[in-house]
Amino acid sequence: MGKIIAISNQKGGVGKTTTAINVSSGLAKLDKKVLLIDFDAQGNASQGLGAITSVGQPTVYAVLMDDYPIEKAIVHDQKSGVDILPANMSLAGADLMMDKIGAGKETLLKRVLQPIKDNYDYILIDCPPSLGLLTTNALTAANSVLIPVQCEYYALEGVTQLLITIRIVQQTSNSGLKIEGILMTMYNSSTNLSAEVSQDVRQSFGKLVYQNSIPRNVRLSEAPSRGLSIFEYDPRSKGAVAYMALCEELLNRNGDK
Ligand SMILES: Nc1ncnc2c1ncn2[C@@H]1O[C@H](COP(=O)(O)OP(=O)(O)OP(=O)(O)O)[C@@H](O)[C@H]1O
Ligand SMILES: [Mg+2]
Repeated sequence: MGKIIAISNQKGGVGKTTTAINVSSGLAKLDKKVLLIDFDAQGNASQGLGAITSVGQPTVYAVLMDDYPIEKAIVHDQKSGVDILPANMSLAGADLMMDKIGAGKETLLKRVLQPIKDNYDYILIDCPPSLGLLTTNALTAANSVLIPVQCEYYALEGVTQLLITIRIVQQTSNSGLKIEGILMTMYNSSTNLSAEVSQDVRQSFGKLVYQNSIPRNVRLSEAPSRGLSIFEYDPRSKGAVAYMALCEELLNRNGDK
């Protein structure tokens, strides 16, 4: 049975896409069948795995808004072993277009995933840095939310608002929505700040916070420009080791080992 995990935080640049790419690829390395849905008009998750969309190529937008068959829009990335439902700039207008639909506008993604959901062990959704209809659709389709939090001042700034949104979705369109986990990202062991922020977040959220955090690692920021996950780009880097440990922790928490 496919588990759908939305990776969300409306704060920009906290490591959502880096986490989406590398957790998808890490789980694939651990023999899980994974679909990565790029749900951001920036298209960073698609580009980061080298799935650059050509003009006219059907993306998640066509699947949502034009009834394009999802199976035909999914591309398989040989290198990482991950299936990708790509996005590009066309998704920028989706919030407005969805709003016009009226009833059922929150369940568009959930409905298109229904027929293919069980072809996968895990489906990860890389959400945009906003809490609009795209994110509502992702949270409505998902079983759980993974929240990356950057080890910086104001780390929790975005999280409070996200938790309110999660509660609203639980009360309206998805009563079963859970929090998968909170992930501390860009941890810098050479400063006190990262340790302090991480301690604060652990104090506030306890066991929801993953034991494994992701270090700041330049290899993680270089990999997407080659269209590679960290496991293909530099499997021995600190970033690769941390994301693999996180994948194992995620599987453990799900009783899936
Ligand atoms: N652990 C890390 N170490 C070093 N650089 C990182 C790390 N994680 C992410 N980055 C870099 O930080 C920037 C923001 O990361 P990313 O794109 O994953 O964030 P995001 O939350 O998806 O951003 P957005 O909100 O714009 O979608 C990118 O340039 C990325 O390469
Ligand atoms: Mg992103």
